[in-house]
Amino acid sequence: MLFDPRPKTSRGELYDRDVELSMLDGFVESGSPLMVVFGIRRIGKTSLLRVFLNEVGLPYIYIDARVFEEQGFGKDLLYRMLSIELNRLRGKWASIIEYLRVLEGVEVGATTIRFNWRKKPLSITDVFVRLDDWASDNGRVVVIAVDEAQLLRYLKGGKGRIDFTKIISYCYDNLRNIKFIVTGSEIGVLKDFLGFDNPNSWLYGRIRDELVVDRFDREKSRDFLEKGFSECGVKPPSSIVEEVLDRVDGIPGWLTYFGYKYCRRPSPEIVKEVFSEAKRLVLEEIRKLPSKYYVYALKAISIGYKQWKNIKQAIELWTNHPLTNAQTTRILQTLVKLSLIEKEDNEYKILDPIIAEAVKEL
Ligand SMILES: Nc1ncnc2c1ncn2[C@@H]1O[C@H](COP(=O)(O)OP(=O)(O)OP(=O)(O)O)[C@@H](O)[C@H]1O
Ligand SMILES: [Mg+2]
Repeated sequence: MLFDPRPKTSRGELYDRDVELSMLDGFVESGSPLMVVFGIRRIGKTSLLRVFLNEVGLPYIYIDARVFEEQGFGKDLLYRMLSIELNRLRGKWASIIEYLRVLEGVEVGATTIRFNWRKKPLSITDVFVRLDDWASDNGRVVVIAVDEAQLLRYLKGGKGRIDFTKIISYCYDNLRNIKFIVTGSEIGVLKDFLGFDNPNSWLYGRIRDELVVDRFDREKSRDFLEKGFSECGVKPPSSIVEEVLDRVDGIPGWLTYFGYKYCRRPSPEIVKEVFSEAKRLVLEEIRKLPSKYYVYALKAISIGYKQWKNIKQAIELWTNHPLTNAQTTRILQTLVKLSLIEKEDNEYKILDPIIAEAVKEL
């Protein structure tokens, strides 16, 4: 179902991402060791990644880094996630386990794999080395996929921070049969974390493949809605469809959200309700920003103050507090890094129109 609100996992449910899927195919066949998938929130990164992994016919490890946000950024959770994934691989690629069994600190049970990393000198890299050995002996590639990888910057181990970019760079240099795919919705934050342009970063200067997941154009958005509605046997009036197209600007997540709700209760009132809910949802996300200044900056942009100077003045007026130039710049740069706004020709723009609507009303 196109309007299934969960991330899609099969190609039949994934609308119009054939080009992106073939780019991922090309990457595992002949690309660099690392693919970075960028895209703003709700654009369909997870869906693309999951459909690809399901179809590619290779062993893969999938780590959803948002789980760290919920359960803590500890090494134990990372190992737990690895155990679950490796245990899943057993079903189809049983011999992988034999390669892991030889590692000190790995306990293989009938239905579990346990990492005894606290007692034994075991590292994540050791595990990847063994996966690479298996892949090399079996003429395969093993894919390590990390969704929302920018969150890995908070990973902590026994003695301090775990630098996941160091692990990636080791694999990049030494393990021919391991490939990484990482995604991120905070595009600038992910870039900073990976540090391709930072001489102090492990991944400095590394060649990588990149893929940007973009919004649907208006025609595709309309077609997506039509197909979705015909699947659930509902036909909304074209005035409603056009209103939705105007308001969500091709973001698949919002099209899906609206389609799902409308199919369940097809009535004109639901449009208002859905948009109110969507705005509530984004405001919850916005409230996690470091301070109210960020929200005011968004509000300023949403009501038409698009230039640096005007945004600064608006924030100062609303907060009754002077801002230095450096503070203003930092606020705007952070919002750009979080992929909430973009800067073009010296004007700032909010990337998600639902966020723009929501902050305008604050
Ligand atoms: N190409 C697509 N075809 C069908 N549904 C899609 C497509 N892209 C996204 N969706 C739907 O949109 C919603 C958001 O998709 P998904 O979770 O994959 O996006 P995301 O970029 O990972 O979002 P987030 O940044 O919030 O994690 C989901 O309900 C998903 O089913
Ligand atoms: Mg996602």
